[in-house]
Amino acid sequence: MSAASPSLPAQAQPIFPAPPAFPLAEPPVTPGLTQAAQYFAMAQENRVLYGAHPWVLPMLDRIAARGPIVRIPGLGVVVSEARLARSILMDRDHFSKTGRTASAGLWTPVLGPSVLLNMEGADHLRLRRTISGIFTPKAVAELTADTAAGELAEAVARLESGLPVDVVKVATRIAGAIICRLTGLPVSEERIGRMLAAIHGVTSMVRLHRPSLTPRQVEQAKAAMSDIVDPARQAWRAQDESTIPGRMAGLGLTEDEAVGAVGAFIVVGTETIVSFLPRLLALALDSRLWNDLVAERAAGSADRRDLLVEEALRVTVPTPVMLREATADVRVGGASAGGFGIRAGERIIIATLMCCRNVGPFDPAARRAGELKQLWFGAGPHFCLGAPVATAQTDALLDALLDVCARTGSGLRIVSRAEARGVLIPGYARLEIALTKRSQGPHRRGVRR
Ligand code: HEM
Repeated sequence: MSAASPSLPAQAQPIFPAPPAFPLAEPPVTPGLTQAAQYFAMAQENRVLYGAHPWVLPMLDRIAARGPIVRIPGLGVVVSEARLARSILMDRDHFSKTGRTASAGLWTPVLGPSVLLNMEGADHLRLRRTISGIFTPKAVAELTADTAAGELAEAVARLESGLPVDVVKVATRIAGAIICRLTGLPVSEERIGRMLAAIHGVTSMVRLHRPSLTPRQVEQAKAAMSDIVDPARQAWRAQDESTIPGRMAGLGLTEDEAVGAVGAFIVVGTETIVSFLPRLLALALDSRLWNDLVAERAAGSADRRDLLVEEALRVTVPTPVMLREATADVRVGGASAGGFGIRAGERIIIATLMCCRNVGPFDPAARRAGELKQLWFGAGPHFCLGAPVATAQTDALLDALLDVCARTGSGLRIVSRAEARGVLIPGYARLEIALTKRSQGPHRRGVRR
């Protein structure tokens, strides 16, 4: 066995099943963040996580409490410490996504062999490079501003007329429209609805204890996805440069590569952002930090907002786990420290949620997110290709809501909320917000569930 990665760190602190005792051990360092608000914000987040995975996440948490890397027969090797996770994600010589027990087992039968998520090596690098050339941060920011503008203007007008707005619906429409634009599909409410239903239909079949879909599920998933990927296939064949698949054709990608990349964007680029945006907003309101962001915006700065967004990504971790398969025997965690031996063919479950959350409670100014180097977007060769898209969408939503609050001198409150159940990616099913007089406080009065 060869050696890799940093020495094994101390045991993780459990974040489930019960919320930590109140008050939390360390007072928050973020100005304006009380312990009660910090606790409330985290408790709401835990409800979202429980709603999606009442058994799996508490189970992973109990496993994480046993140590940073633990072998569970029938499930795999569970990693719940950030440095160790990163070292595995960066180690191309011993770990891969292409194995039967990694992501490839799920996506190859449904979307074919070129979906980024199921590729490694030179082919993966070439496909990524080509796609990155199209999705530069500037191009993505322009596309997002253009696509989201109408939706956000409508939401702001509704808020200003005193009506509540469901942020989940807004995020869904924005994310759906952007994915349609990115992938060359016609944008329409009906198309977005169908697309999201298809994605949800596919992702809700995924189970942590089952490395692949059953043949029947594969057939169902293919049927659901064909409605989405077929237009992309046509766009590639027509070599229409106004569409992304058409541009991919122009850049020399094969039909399967272009369609696979479109599939990847659809699968990973919608539910993640529909999960994140409402949770970000809920954290800002539950922690009572929103009004500070409004004041900061009015003063033309964004330091606290940037910290809040990073911290929200750290505690929400929209993609709670990542999968790999060991391609060769390897010892991780440093041979001298006792290390941990992994055998070729073993399945690796990176519990990203635990890696990111175990370093401490929600507290933006504590800057715990920095040391994790954006692990919530992955690390190494598969680092999220859509991170600039996610950032652009987050900015667009926050700009619109902060501006309306600053302009009208209003606060924002949560009117009603419900967490989504039976979903792969945890999130809210509904998060209704409304403008409020600033002095009234950010939320809670009259919250409906
Ligand atoms: C907050 C939102 C998002 C989060 C937390 C997130 C997270 C991640 C993570 C953790 C990975 C790596 C998975 C692994 O290594 O196993 C990944 C990969 C990827 N993401 Fe994202 N993602 C987000 C939004 C998006 C969006 C909006 C898009 C596209 C529009 C996107 C496109 C992709 C693609 C194409 C990959 C595959 C990259 C590869 O395998 O080379 N993501 N994402």
